[in-house]
Amino acid sequence: MTCKHSDFADKVVRWQIAHGRNDLPWQNTRDPYRVWVSEIMLQQTQVATVRAYFTRFLERMPTVSSLASASLDQVLGLWSGLGYYSRARNLHLCAQQVIALHDGVFPHTSQALATLPGIGKSTAAAIASLCFGERVAILDANVKRVVTRVLGFDADLAVAAHERALWDAASGLLPGGPKAQRAMPRFTQGMMDLGATVCLPNNPRCTECPVRTDCRATASGDPQRYPVRTRTLKRSNQSLWLLWVKSECGSVWLSKRPTPGVWAGLHCPPLYDSEAALVGAVPLQLQTSLRGQAAFVHVLTHKNLCLHPWRLELPNTDASWGEGRWVGPQDWPYLGLPAPIRKLMGDPVV
Ligand code: ADE
Repeated sequence: MTCKHSDFADKVVRWQIAHGRNDLPWQNTRDPYRVWVSEIMLQQTQVATVRAYFTRFLERMPTVSSLASASLDQVLGLWSGLGYYSRARNLHLCAQQVIALHDGVFPHTSQALATLPGIGKSTAAAIASLCFGERVAILDANVKRVVTRVLGFDADLAVAAHERALWDAASGLLPGGPKAQRAMPRFTQGMMDLGATVCLPNNPRCTECPVRTDCRATASGDPQRYPVRTRTLKRSNQSLWLLWVKSECGSVWLSKRPTPGVWAGLHCPPLYDSEAALVGAVPLQLQTSLRGQAAFVHVLTHKNLCLHPWRLELPNTDASWGEGRWVGPQDWPYLGLPAPIRKLMGDPVV
């Protein structure tokens, strides 16, 4: 970093005005409810996907009190297909806490926001800086890349102390002076936009970067070396057998997944740990009607799920499979269903 830090912030702010993203549905507002919902959706999901979900969500849940008084099923239904469903469960809980503990008004500081369910340090900083101009650094994955490259920060981020040092270093890049509060929303958005559109993980577009002359990583000739992180996520594999029971009228037997576990709180056909367990759950006289379908892999955060669907067509809805109920296609769009299950069932929603 070769310039004064306030120059750095100025460059990011000016670049954001000219080249950043300024027409997203959650922008041009200081409403913390809209900003909060968008930040949670954007945590693990691309902007292009979030756009449609965000608009639909805000139509159905326009205020924090409407969200707090909705059922969890309704919220999971609106989230269906976005994945990482703990985000939706925390969103619902958080809305209820804003009503119960804060009189329905979002706290105005990042410190207070970070006490709410599902709002981590970076998300709290994003909301407080975008809505209230708080002078506080965000550090999501995209911004980490920008900051480590600009500063040539090559300590291993798998080490907690290094991660803390990076937060301090990121705070040193914030706008300063009397106009800092006014500059904060654009600066925060500018850092996010730089990380998402210019300072890319592979083949960064350094020639388009407003801070390239200040960037140590560019000067070193190997910006892709940053950020440095040695520990990688361990992935596991799990196989599940899925009993897809369908009646002649098109209803499917669904039950709510237990918490904790895969797809907790979502609706799903019965799942079993082995083919033998699935077949054993079907009455003898129906076992010859079971039809194995092509297995497929669904990728979750920490594991690859290999799903083996078995289909069973029944003439009516007389049978039952423990906890659960028959659900007709007219109700599928409103239920929280895991995306691969919705696809398997042929429901076209989102
Ligand atoms: N990713 C996280 N927050 C974002 C925002 N406000 N705009 C665009 N991408 C984001």
